[in-house]
Amino acid sequence: MEITREEKYRKLEQAYPGEVESLTALVGKSPWRQLFHIQPPTGLLNDPNGFTFFQGEYHLFYQWFPLGTYHGMKYWYHTKSMDLAHWENVGIGIEPGGPYDSHGAYSGSGIVKDDKLYLMYTGNSRDENWVRHSYQNLAVMDTEGEIIKRSSPVIDSVPDGYTEHFRDPKVWESEGSYYCLIGAQRTNVTGCAVMYRSPNLIDWTFEGEMVTKLDHFGYMWECPDYFEMDDQGVFLFSPQGLSPEEDAFNNIYQSGYLIGEKLDVSTRLFDHGPFQELDRGFDFYAQQTTKAPDGRRILVGWMGIPESNYPTDNQGWANCLTLPRELILKEDKIIQRPVRELEQLRKEQSEVKSLLRDETRTFPNFTGTTYELICEFTNENAQQFGVEFRAGENEKTVLCYDHLNKKVILDRSMSGEPIESAYGNVRRCRLEADKVKFQLFVDTSSVEVFVNDGEEVFTSRIFPSEDSTEIRFFSSGGVVSLEASLWRI
Ligand code: FRU
Repeated sequence: MEITREEKYRKLEQAYPGEVESLTALVGKSPWRQLFHIQPPTGLLNDPNGFTFFQGEYHLFYQWFPLGTYHGMKYWYHTKSMDLAHWENVGIGIEPGGPYDSHGAYSGSGIVKDDKLYLMYTGNSRDENWVRHSYQNLAVMDTEGEIIKRSSPVIDSVPDGYTEHFRDPKVWESEGSYYCLIGAQRTNVTGCAVMYRSPNLIDWTFEGEMVTKLDHFGYMWECPDYFEMDDQGVFLFSPQGLSPEEDAFNNIYQSGYLIGEKLDVSTRLFDHGPFQELDRGFDFYAQQTTKAPDGRRILVGWMGIPESNYPTDNQGWANCLTLPRELILKEDKIIQRPVRELEQLRKEQSEVKSLLRDETRTFPNFTGTTYELICEFTNENAQQFGVEFRAGENEKTVLCYDHLNKKVILDRSMSGEPIESAYGNVRRCRLEADKVKFQLFVDTSSVEVFVNDGEEVFTSRIFPSEDSTEIRFFSSGGVVSLEASLWRI
């Protein structure tokens, strides 16, 4: 069904009579609503935005189109949390529809200054000829939580040399100045990030492009993010237009990072190592980080991907955010761990220790649809071992370590409702290890797998039936020892 422009760019007050109520009722009947992930009340969620610790709470917004499961008029929806584990829905954060965000309040970031939370975002506007204009706007939240948009943009044009694909400002402060990186597309249709500088978050000067070694690396860079850790500079972004390379870059769009010397803000030179994917799963994009009060760098991503359809599209809602992860640098690599606060979600625990001898086994209490599962395998001589979960008569999601090929494999070909199968149903990545630890967070319609304490992460939606609750551990071609703990959530 073709959706008209008028329908796509409707604001909430333009909803048809009873539309929100019937969407809400539809969502209420969805068997795939999540239990402990941030998800939209109705409609479509995409990028995390404005992730900041302010006045004792984490504020996390997301891109939201309330009236359908397609990408329409984007709002910022506001959620907050004291502990990164329990989130409260606050409501609309930034409303689009003004002269400088007539067709959406697109992605952006937050920064605290003078007891206020400054939210800098891209105003997506279209003129009468449907030409896109990109403005960078500010909205300011006070200590009472009231958010007021500035009446005019803080960056009101795109510099020469770039197309209208110019968005997603990420702001930081360094030595008394503010900087922001904006994702951009050069007029020769290659992606890059550009930098602005400001003394006060209001007056911004265009400094120029961030200079990297990746001159021809996709046609657009979305959602740039820069921070420093352990005396290194880290740049995260979501480049569009990369081709698959064996196990890497298999999703329609990618998200990854560069680690290097600290960015030289005067020359904008970033001397960095190779581009590495952040997540090996099927559904991960447009991540954003913030700094916790104790100095940890915390990342949240969109558990979804642009231009993809999901089985909840006809149930009134689509997508969710990932759980928050702590980032750690280790030998030119980012290690990602679920934030320790998530242990608060743990309820009853079950444990098992066993040898698996070329067999598939179940254990008492190891079942469910929402849980955290840690399984540690010590290989003796098996060729493959791992776990099948959300398994039933005809369904299973399989996570396995292939010792022969030294690969971790996530297979969702039998998970349940198919999802974008044209991009394949299996994801793999290399890992050399005799001990393999899988930490899984299984929610009603998703799984996040942390491998060997965050060396690799696989994030994926899955859509099994409600009665596919089994957990089966297996080894093939030899013996592996297993120690596992499950906590109900
Ligand atoms: C990434 C993105 C951003 C944009 C937003 C619009 O998913 O395309 O570049 O700001 O989504 O919702």
